[in-house]
Amino acid sequence: MADRKPLISGNWKMHHNHFEAIQMVQSLSYQLNADDYSHCDISVHPPFTDLRSIQTVLESDNIPILLGAQHCHEQEKGAYTGEVSTGMLEKLNVKLVIVGHSERREIFNETNSQINAKAKAIFKHHMTPILCVGETLDERDAGIAKDKVKIQLDEGLQGIGKDRVGSMVIAYEPIWAIGTGATATPEDAQEMCAHVRDCIRQISGKATAEMVRVQYGGSVKPVNIAELMSQDDIDGALVGGAALEAESFARIAQYRLQ
Ligand code: 13P
Repeated sequence: MADRKPLISGNWKMHHNHFEAIQMVQSLSYQLNADDYSHCDISVHPPFTDLRSIQTVLESDNIPILLGAQHCHEQEKGAYTGEVSTGMLEKLNVKLVIVGHSERREIFNETNSQINAKAKAIFKHHMTPILCVGETLDERDAGIAKDKVKIQLDEGLQGIGKDRVGSMVIAYEPIWAIGTGATATPEDAQEMCAHVRDCIRQISGKATAEMVRVQYGGSVKPVNIAELMSQDDIDGALVGGAALEAESFARIAQYRLQ
């Protein structure tokens, strides 16, 4: 297996105001140690209103947790009320930006071509996209889960050079497993994450496919992380509910100790 450093990411969605966010990150940092950071990268993705506060905590206390965002707009600036540009995120020392989360696709109607433009805007400002893909339960039942993911990758990665694709993170998140408690079995998650890597091989070649980090997301908890992470093609996790609380997120990041 290629030497890919695992990445454990907490997507807080629309939870935690900036006071709660500061407390959470401080408490998380007390529970993590140098061994944890050397073994895996750890990122938190708070709401926009928390980013500046969390940046200050991480930098003033030298905490090596990576700061992430959940969303961005693809344009540099302009009349886009309510939106935030990648240039603004870069100035906050944001390192990773989630794009194409199924909630953005389904609730806010984001398309693959918009997601592709966002990924390019993220690279332009020297950050790393975490591109989310995944199927609905109906698509899984209809046997088209792999086709859906392939289209999301083909269109989402269009025009992005090999080196950049290799540096990306792809999060496979089956929609039916998000927030439902119904985790994919480790075997199903492995099969789909291997499929993601195979799609990347077809798009950008074998070497790039070996470099890209593939996360699994969907009801990841302290009790199921170790088995998921033991799969060959799973290089990390994108965690929702269980990342809101410091102790459970720390236990997920410390999965190797189980
Ligand atoms: P849950 O871990 O709450 O299922 O959420 C997963 C997710 O959507 C992370 O982006």
